[in-house]
Amino acid sequence: MSGLIDQFGRTATDLRMSLIDKCNLRCRYCMPAEGLDWLKKDDMLTADEVIRLADIAISRLGIESIRFTGGEPMVRADLVDILAGVHAAHPQVELSMTTNGINLERKIDALVEAGLARINVSLDTVCPETFAKITRRDRLTKVLSGLHAAKAAGLEPIKINAVLLRGINDQQAAELLTWSLEHDYQLRFIEQMPLDADHNWTRDNMVTAAEIRDQIAQVYTLTEHETPRGSAPAELFDVQDKETQETLGQVGIIASVTEPFCAACSRTRITADAKVRSCLFSHTETDLMGLLRDGSSDEDIANAWREAMWHKPKAHGQTQVGLGMPGFVQPERTMSAIGG
Ligand code: 5AD
Ligand code: SF4
Repeated sequence: MSGLIDQFGRTATDLRMSLIDKCNLRCRYCMPAEGLDWLKKDDMLTADEVIRLADIAISRLGIESIRFTGGEPMVRADLVDILAGVHAAHPQVELSMTTNGINLERKIDALVEAGLARINVSLDTVCPETFAKITRRDRLTKVLSGLHAAKAAGLEPIKINAVLLRGINDQQAAELLTWSLEHDYQLRFIEQMPLDADHNWTRDNMVTAAEIRDQIAQVYTLTEHETPRGSAPAELFDVQDKETQETLGQVGIIASVTEPFCAACSRTRITADAKVRSCLFSHTETDLMGLLRDGSSDEDIANAWREAMWHKPKAHGQTQVGLGMPGFVQPERTMSAIGG
């Protein structure tokens, strides 16, 4: 059995599976206000197909953890069946989900019972007006009650992903951190990447990791956390009270644009229509749906996946062109159609 190795010596052990491209929010950095042309049901992986692909990934390709994403994975009515199916076959593999938290309150118990071990919730602000501006929906309270429900269900740690947008929430880093520390959520800021439908992203306008650090440092003392970063993209900082030096918790900052971590990347991605994407910024995809539906064997599918990953680009979708630098071409799919 060989795993998912690429020609630059990396091994992918971490699978991101997008289960659906739809979402009940419209975050500006991810989707246009009017939504997108959604995938047709027939073109999407069924629950059984997701479970089969997960089994191939784990049994034949060395995948050690799976994160379900979207769009919004909870928009899929059969999410519990998917989790339960994968978990029953491979209880040792950690199953996690990236979600916007809407409906989490209602669904969390069933998800945990089915085998969900960890969640990341996207939350860019705790100000209701700012939330509505970013997501184009007035649903902050639903997300907050979802987060509380996840904590009550015993999920640990609960991570929060935040993106800062210039002129909208770019002054709220410390406020969001204070709130996260108070509630014992692990906050991670992610530099905004050019994956928006509107193609409004510019490198000059992006709120950088350095800027985020500086903002937080005005309120707290930040020191680099001891554990090595490894393939985890977030750089972790201990957050201390400026006066007492008491450690209050940690904050992660993911400098996906200014300090890309492509050399240590351990990801492979499957879209909701069964395409392998070796990189968020790939311009090529490898279809597995045809093989899933034409009677091909598990090993045929595994081989197509291996071949796709062998050609994983060295960095950011194309050879060595920084995001937003001259020559960079944004991929056609938006974040919502790739899966974070
Ligand atoms: N840049 C950075 N992060 C993004 N996310 C969505 N779009 C972008 C983007 N353009 C984040 C969301 C979510 C995760 C899937 O990725 O906040 O938490
Ligand atoms: Fe939905 Fe997540 Fe995209 Fe926001 S970032 S629109 S919550 S998929």
